[in-house]
Amino acid sequence: MGEPVVKTFGILTSGGDAPGLNAAIRGVARTAITQYGMKVIGIEEGYRGLIQGKGKELAPESFSGILTRGGTILGTSREKPFKNDEINPDTGLTPVQQIKENYKKWGLDALVVIGGNGTNTTGYLLAQEGLNIIGLPKTIDNDLECTDVSFGFHTAVSVATEAIDRLHSTAHSHNRIMIIEVMGHKAGWLGLYAGIAGGGDVVLIPEIPYHIDSIATHLKERQAEGKNFSIVVVAEGALSEEESFMDKKTFKQQRKEMPYSIAYRVARELEEATGLESRVTVLGYLQRGGTPTPYDRVLATQFGVAAAHMLSRGEFGKMVTLVNGKLEGVPLEKIAGKTKRVPLDHPTLVCGREVGTCFGD
Ligand code: F6P
Repeated sequence: MGEPVVKTFGILTSGGDAPGLNAAIRGVARTAITQYGMKVIGIEEGYRGLIQGKGKELAPESFSGILTRGGTILGTSREKPFKNDEINPDTGLTPVQQIKENYKKWGLDALVVIGGNGTNTTGYLLAQEGLNIIGLPKTIDNDLECTDVSFGFHTAVSVATEAIDRLHSTAHSHNRIMIIEVMGHKAGWLGLYAGIAGGGDVVLIPEIPYHIDSIATHLKERQAEGKNFSIVVVAEGALSEEESFMDKKTFKQQRKEMPYSIAYRVARELEEATGLESRVTVLGYLQRGGTPTPYDRVLATQFGVAAAHMLSRGEFGKMVTLVNGKLEGVPLEKIAGKTKRVPLDHPTLVCGREVGTCFGD
């Protein structure tokens, strides 16, 4: 084995936390240290720490006992350095200039960024600025382009599915419509998978604008069959057909002004349309917390190990992806600024329709 291209690299986690972040950090660092003798600089709080110079060398022991832990040992933030032009009063530098300065100061040959769309888009822009970047795909939303799956998604689907399973008891006992809101502003992967896994009667995702009348008809048909309860899974970005015709700005403003989340509106609309009692559960951050599933641990480890090998080969400007069971690096420009939404002919969606799930259209 020849000399690795990278001797020292930085690593950060950015964006919302997700189960598997620590497993990914461990995968990269252990391989980089034990296989290639690299030095690892752990950067705290995502890009904010990179701007502020919050980083230190991490000893191999730092990566012990973290595989199963939720959250991230490095901390995270939603800092977007390219959207922040606040000059540092001490150095007179912009956030991006500050990042380049710290990269040089720490003697980094490369930077591994672990996160979702925002993180990998920033990674792409930093690569354009001349930094050697490798991205890893993390998101419970599963909406990163060019990879079949991102780590964190499987765990979130399990959490949401268990919640749906538990809601069935109350739905059934009280003859109610139980509405559960899951995450997913732009893409409905989580709602779709948890909805199918939990046997949701109605699944509303951002890709399919809903008509309340279609849902009401579906629920009344269930009632006519003697099924007096229903489970409705609503992604936080679900929208009505009327809203789907709005321009982006008006829609965003309207949602900002809405004093409650979408599930509450759907509950009210369904009560009015069906006369059935309904109740809402918003799962929120429970979907991002806690121990990753074994699948996510393995996936995050595999992504991490692949990133370490890419560091050794000097394969930069790419995000690690899983396509048809194969790990490969895809240029960041193919991922930056994009969102992988659920295609309307996706087999899981089609299979949901086959078993009678109503998608609100
Ligand atoms: O990006 C993942 C995600 O879980 C979204 O589904 C959700 O809308 C968002 O994070 C909210 O996160 P925060 O409140 O931390 O910004």
